[in-house]
Amino acid sequence: MDDRQISRRAAMLGAAATMAWLSSPARALLAAAATPGLSAKVEALFAQMTVEEKAGQLTLNAAAWAGGAAVTLNPAGSAATFDSQLAEVRAGRLTGVFNGNGAAMARQMQTVAMREARLKIPLIFAADVIHGFRTVFPMPIAEAGSFDADLAMRTARAAAVEAAAAGIDWTFAPMVDIGRDQRWGRVVEGSGEDVFLGCLMAAARVRGFQGSRGLAADDAVMACAKHFAAYGAAEAGLDYNTVDVSERTLREVYFPPFEAAFDAGALSAMASFNEISGVPATANPWLLDTVLRKEWKFGGLVVSDYTGDEELIAHGFAADARDATRLAFMAGVDMSMQSSFYIKHLPDLVAKGEVPMARLDQAVRRVLAVKQALGLFDDPFRRIDPRREKTRVRTPANLKLAREAGRRSIVLLKNDGDLLPLPRSSKRIALIGPFASGQQDLIGPWNVYGTDAEAVDLATGVRAAIADPSLVTTVAGSAVEAPIAGGIDAAVAAANAADIVVLAIGESQRMSGEAQSRTAIVVPAPQQALAEAVAATGKPMVVVLRHGRALALEGAVLDAPAILATWFLGSQAGPAIADILFGIEGPSARLSVSFPYASGQEPYHYDHKSTGRPSPAGKPVEYKARYREVPNAARFAFGHGLTYGKIGYSGLSLAPSMAWDGALTAKATITNTGRTAAVEVAQLYIRDVTASITRPVRQLKGFKRVPLAPGASAEIAFTLKRSDLEFVGLDLSRTIEPGRFELWIASSAQDDGVTGSFTLAAA
Ligand code: NOJ
Repeated sequence: MDDRQISRRAAMLGAAATMAWLSSPARALLAAAATPGLSAKVEALFAQMTVEEKAGQLTLNAAAWAGGAAVTLNPAGSAATFDSQLAEVRAGRLTGVFNGNGAAMARQMQTVAMREARLKIPLIFAADVIHGFRTVFPMPIAEAGSFDADLAMRTARAAAVEAAAAGIDWTFAPMVDIGRDQRWGRVVEGSGEDVFLGCLMAAARVRGFQGSRGLAADDAVMACAKHFAAYGAAEAGLDYNTVDVSERTLREVYFPPFEAAFDAGALSAMASFNEISGVPATANPWLLDTVLRKEWKFGGLVVSDYTGDEELIAHGFAADARDATRLAFMAGVDMSMQSSFYIKHLPDLVAKGEVPMARLDQAVRRVLAVKQALGLFDDPFRRIDPRREKTRVRTPANLKLAREAGRRSIVLLKNDGDLLPLPRSSKRIALIGPFASGQQDLIGPWNVYGTDAEAVDLATGVRAAIADPSLVTTVAGSAVEAPIAGGIDAAVAAANAADIVVLAIGESQRMSGEAQSRTAIVVPAPQQALAEAVAATGKPMVVVLRHGRALALEGAVLDAPAILATWFLGSQAGPAIADILFGIEGPSARLSVSFPYASGQEPYHYDHKSTGRPSPAGKPVEYKARYREVPNAARFAFGHGLTYGKIGYSGLSLAPSMAWDGALTAKATITNTGRTAAVEVAQLYIRDVTASITRPVRQLKGFKRVPLAPGASAEIAFTLKRSDLEFVGLDLSRTIEPGRFELWIASSAQDDGVTGSFTLAAA
């Protein structure tokens, strides 16, 4: 066991020492340095604030307007009505609301704050704008598969422009949790299992949300990196569950995307629901102060997750509401979401000296600083404009972008006999399955403002793509998790009457996302039965999967000659899928998560360790790290994705060594010997063969999207520096050791592509 695990650290500190640490005002003040300064006008307001008004600035609640979106999306956390919320605003007891209902609501609330509250401090309006606003883009797990940070930046920008036009100042995004366990439903909200890709996507989304003209721009929204931290490491993939993780893994796997988000300028962070090795993240001073503030010099705002402070009681960490308030606040959570604990308990805690005024002031300054950065003190209504709200959403450009992003998120898992792309004329197509038609389950599980009615379904997309739409028949065949009486018979009849079957099956959007963990990550049994029956007709079958996680595919689904992973693609899902099905554009996305052979392999990630008894490739060997039933590998690995071309890798050129202060370039030739143009995502992996800390069997270090015409070749080059070879060493600092490294330029984490090795020379 690693003696640097946080559990040990916390145990060693001991309760008494922890208490002393927590209540030390000097400690709390140390972190103030990086917080942006306040203008004279804001300082003057600050000087007039009562303790209650200060606690009010730290209190954020779900919008209650007409039963706002948040109160239906999250567990009921307050019995507020819109009028009672306005009363809180008037009294200076609320800093803002989240997941509200557009500019009209925001205008009404902001008007009360600016006219009727004593100090006239503008409210802040927050929302979960995770993958689009009214134009819905692919879920992040899907979009990460584009291996294109610029695309992620552009969709985040478009989402920000729409959201800001509807009065939103602050998005609770990007979600940057690394997702290594596909049972965990929230993998859908993140960028997959890989740290390198996760960092690029995190930074790109922050840049997209916050824009390049400064946060005060009327189309910028403040980003919030969440959930800090290690939320995805929940035991058994059960949402909200315990996390017990070494400090090394935190620093090497779970922290880097947060660092990338903060480096890109994210001015807020959300504490996660989970405990980390015995200390809930929401009350974890090591996480929120030592690492975030002192080490990383984060100067922004930390908000709890929804009732995260209240949940300290259920965790068995806080005795009661007052205790929970003190623990969360003193650990570093500046703003409380939804429990109202801070407004209820902070004034008394300060009065009794249990919370230093200095800590209260520090948190309030952070809130005022972000409101100032957002330009709210100059113009509290800068993002509240009902006219812009109507004209900036769902523009043709944004819908076009949604279709582009959709296409570029679709992964071709399999294409035996080049069944795809399908011809656009003269074939009768049976479109079968619960996702064949209908606008449900297109936009995905985490969208507050997009509507099903505004999304284009698969049948519509397919009919629009082919010459004679009357050649398409649609049959559900099965519901998502229950059979339909006579459904299979109808589906088989439709398949028999067609030339080609497109089978649209998988998970509904309620099967992934928050609180939607699964023990078996398979196609639900009634749909599997449908697939078996339809496959038995012998008609050529393309499986179009809808899903929020990697799935363990089986039977007729796995055996289908062609399989497309299409996730939840948003507003333009149907047209985007049709574009790929009919070859209007070729597939170019790659898996951001590994598809295992079986659910029991989870958590599975390609960058696992070797073990002392690695299983040789091929036949399973006794007393090696293997399963009785399936290989110790992925069925479809991270990075996998076919094109409509025929791609080959050759001619690795690699110098035998890298000087300590030098660089090393690896080159390879990629050739498309097929008859169709393709975009290949060439991936660079390395393995540090021997090190003082065991290293993963492979790690992604770079990738390139390479367009290749039929018959074309391209030479690609990756340059590695010493810093690309570093890891978290024995003393938990960044370490680089000379020695041998293996290298692959390949088409997935499990593909050999071209491979060689080099040595990092000693200094
Ligand atoms: C709970 C979720 O964990 C978080 O991601 C979200 O931002 C909040 N609810 C607010 O809706």
